[in-house]
Amino acid sequence: MAKVKIAVIIGTTRATRFADKPAKWIADIASQRDDLTVEVLDLRNFPMPFFDEVASNAWVPSQNEVAQRWQKKVAEFDGYIFVTAEYNRGVPAVLKNALDYAYPEWNRKPVAFVGYGSVGAARSIEQLRLIAIELQMAPTRTGVHIQGADFMAVWKGEKQIAELSYLHQNTTDMLDQLVWWTNALKTARERPVTSAAA
Ligand SMILES: Cc1cc2nc3c(=O)[nH]c(=O)nc-3n(C[C@H](O)[C@H](O)[C@H](O)COP(=O)(O)O)c2cc1C
Repeated sequence: MAKVKIAVIIGTTRATRFADKPAKWIADIASQRDDLTVEVLDLRNFPMPFFDEVASNAWVPSQNEVAQRWQKKVAEFDGYIFVTAEYNRGVPAVLKNALDYAYPEWNRKPVAFVGYGSVGAARSIEQLRLIAIELQMAPTRTGVHIQGADFMAVWKGEKQIAELSYLHQNTTDMLDQLVWWTNALKTARERPVTSAAA
């Protein structure tokens, strides 16, 4: 089966962000697999204003040029890995804004999650799973959570993410689930439309 195209989306943009470490770590692991290709998308390269269109691009084409570029980029992929922090127990605003700036491009595609923070961004990731439903995405059951003292140790440079052995099985399971859903949904999307529900 052909390799599926997966984007790793870095969900924070602040100058001193931690996000680069987990994004590089998961992209390196994913790129060693023979069933997917991976590209890292950095929201810093898509500096969109807070949502300022007349409607979602589900209904009205966006006017903002960066938003148009973002939508084209998102459309290139069959599945996604969101790398996310947790800001006040929620999704970082820049990631939510980027999600809002596309719609058909996300539809009927799967998404997996790598989180970091005191509880491995578990609360942010649960919120992302709810958002994914409205975006007509399939969130994977398994996420990867870099958490607590381990998160702090990596943040301080005292440990590498690769040393956190409890992440290994979850990472494999999550990527297996992502590839399964990506192939299933890609096949379904490419099938000729035969019913009103499609
Ligand atoms: C505005 C703000 C709110 C935060 N709220 C939480 C939180 O609710 N839970 C948590 O685990 N960490 C929280 N943190 C700490 C982050 O986990 C930590 O700063 C992390 O490095 C943020 O990701 P980033 O470096 O990629 O921006 C918060 C950080 C910021 C800046």
